[in-house]
Amino acid sequence: MKDIITLAIESSCDETAASVLRNGREILSNVISTQIELHKKFGGVVPEVASRKHLENIDAVVQEALDEANMQFSDIDHIAATYGPGMVGALLVGLSHAKALAYTLDIPLVGVNHIEGHVSANYIEHKDLKPPFITLIVSGGHTHLVEVKDYGEYEILGKTRDDASGEAFDKIARAMGLGYPGGPIIDKLAKEGNKHAIEFPRAYIDEGYDFSFSGLKSAVLNYLNAKKMKNEEIVVEDVAASFQEAVVEVLSTKALKAAKEKGYSTIALAGGVASNSALREKITEMSKSEGIEIKYPSLILCTDNAAMIGCAGYYNFINGRIHDMSLNAVPNLKI
Ligand code: KG4
Ligand code: ZN
Repeated sequence: MKDIITLAIESSCDETAASVLRNGREILSNVISTQIELHKKFGGVVPEVASRKHLENIDAVVQEALDEANMQFSDIDHIAATYGPGMVGALLVGLSHAKALAYTLDIPLVGVNHIEGHVSANYIEHKDLKPPFITLIVSGGHTHLVEVKDYGEYEILGKTRDDASGEAFDKIARAMGLGYPGGPIIDKLAKEGNKHAIEFPRAYIDEGYDFSFSGLKSAVLNYLNAKKMKNEEIVVEDVAASFQEAVVEVLSTKALKAAKEKGYSTIALAGGVASNSALREKITEMSKSEGIEIKYPSLILCTDNAAMIGCAGYYNFINGRIHDMSLNAVPNLKI
């Protein structure tokens, strides 16, 4: 059978990315131009700044992805692009570029849900992975526990009622003056700290599949304020480790509970927070006695990238789920 070549574009947040894939799961190129340095000085992503930077970068990033893959536009069978969720201006840059390419090359356009992309990163990493399985999607904007019933077919079991897990990492890091993005910084600091030093709350740990991280965030902020008021030393490593332990214990417990109760033997982690070393360790450790296998993408595929968008787009394409030129960006797109 003839190979299917996908050109994918991602621009939902602060990474301008393009990738070329063969048959959905083989990466021929994966170019990521990150804007992290640009947004660092603001302590978070500034939407207007992000859109303008995407616009500056998109053409070169797509060209680089083609060059690295040794491909021409004429080799591409279809385009895949993120159309939500994300920041509307940022999404529009990648999607409009994708639409223009699909139109001029006269090839199909496939709009991809960014969250579905994160899940699909696991298909690239683990060539034998097939639905059904449970996925724990943990990123800056999302915390979802989902049954993957088939390619492109999902059932949400639970989600956060307030902050996303990555957002909690970012907010706590900001409160401690550690910089942006907070997740990787806290992950690193926590390695030097005592995770049992401070007992922070684990909301809903034995209750259902929903999550809540705003109470934990307030508890950490209250702890920091109380220490400052009393002029007591704050051991940032201990705060980082204790906070991180509270997050990963809730995430791991609920994901395992879902797999056991719903009868699945595989859990795939997805999204930026899936890079977290404590989460990977804890859930793997807890799953051993349960006979449940934990899978996660390599670090480069956990962060925002276009290869994962191309993989999700490929499965939509071969299943006939394509879009026309009226496709618009949907900032609050649901999975
Ligand atoms: O998936 P992603 O790159 O973008 C979104 O779709 O949101 O996730 C970014 C989030 C940020 O909140 C960042 O702090 C978090 O993932 N993150 C981490 C780690 N690396 C990135 N959180 C905890 N530990 C990490 N090692
Ligand atoms: Zn993401």
